[in-house]
Amino acid sequence: MAKSVNVAIIGSGVVGSAFINQLKNLKSPIDFKVVYLARSSKEAVFSKDYSPVDLSTYKSATSNPVLPLAELADYLSAAARPTILIDNTSNESIANFYPTFIKSGISIATPNKKAFSSDITTWNDIFSSSAQPHGGLVYHEATVGAGLPIIGPLTDLVLTGDKVDKIEGIFSGTLSYIFNEFSTTDASNNTKFSDVVKVAKSLGYTEPDPRDDLNGLDVARKVTILARISGLKVESPTSFPVESLIPKPLESIQSAEEFLQKLPDFDADIQKLKDDAFADNKVLRFVGSVDIKTNQVKVGIGKYGFDHPFASLKGSDNVVSIKTERYPNPLVIQGAGAGAEVTAHGVLADAIKVAQRIAN
Ligand SMILES: NC(=O)c1ccc[n+]([C@@H]2O[C@H](COP(=O)([O-])OP(=O)(O)OC[C@H]3O[C@@H](n4cnc5c(N)ncnc54)[C@H](OP(=O)(O)O)[C@@H]3O)[C@@H](O)[C@H]2O)c1
Repeated sequence: MAKSVNVAIIGSGVVGSAFINQLKNLKSPIDFKVVYLARSSKEAVFSKDYSPVDLSTYKSATSNPVLPLAELADYLSAAARPTILIDNTSNESIANFYPTFIKSGISIATPNKKAFSSDITTWNDIFSSSAQPHGGLVYHEATVGAGLPIIGPLTDLVLTGDKVDKIEGIFSGTLSYIFNEFSTTDASNNTKFSDVVKVAKSLGYTEPDPRDDLNGLDVARKVTILARISGLKVESPTSFPVESLIPKPLESIQSAEEFLQKLPDFDADIQKLKDDAFADNKVLRFVGSVDIKTNQVKVGIGKYGFDHPFASLKGSDNVVSIKTERYPNPLVIQGAGAGAEVTAHGVLADAIKVAQRIAN
């Protein structure tokens, strides 16, 4: 008989729906039995006897209210098979509950970066619980760079004794797009910063309020994760310098619409930065960096020569450069850093890795 594993899925939004579809079409020697599927924050499809949810009809299947997290942990850990919990939300309460799931023997695969980038006590709690004899496993490749292989290779390097020297990268698809359009090697490029932000919003690249991208916090969270894997004890994503692209007077404005309307008034400063960089044969990019030797983590605008790999980045791609003792010429990983299919594949690949270790 084939090995099997139980799966509990939380969330069926952009990434969640793509994940469910990829899982439905998965060809695997391991049988993945979905025993709980929260298709929203309110409704979940499951039955007390753990009958598998049909992934072809889950959208219209009879549902129950979602289980409170403690009850969900009890329901999953009482099953005869080991369980992988897939958290396809950005919910903080679920993230804070990971240690309890893990201590109950439930493994986790998730693109939700909240748990890994909040205060360091949560990080320590997650990984010390996972290291216990019956602790669940934790995989979170898609929390940085969506489906790009960053966390796996970096973790492998560290675990096998390599020493990270420096990590530098462009980790926000939105800010990648904005700077790739705004600051180029083309002398005839007159694009204004405020105009690119508007276009990015109209293309659906930004959060509903673009300030949630421009404040740099999303990049800070990703850099926090990479710094911690590399061995730095970063307290929180606000414990190091993070440059915000929101002009001070526009921070407290109520609506996103009013913000976009007033943003052109503040184009001059960033335009000068761009022009000065161009005069030096450089472009502007919004980067996060971790310098292990100097114990420095920071997020903000950097200048890069026209021939630097960051200068030729396209669209909303992410790129990361990892310099280590073994890779003095940095390992460079580049590609789509957002999107439903690539993110879902990162989560599913993690779920498969977990299943290969725990299925019975
Ligand atoms: N989209 C990307 O390209 C991308 C890339 C990398 C990483 N990620 C990460 O992937 C995760 C999901 O992103 P997304 O774009 O798919 O978001 P999304 O479209 O907003 O979907 C989130 C889903 O989670 C559900 N949810 C929220 N709280 C819940 C709860 N307490 N219980 C059950 N379900 C709950 C939501 O249901 P309701 O509608 O009821 O709230 C919704 O179905 C996030 O952590 C995000 O940062 C996304």
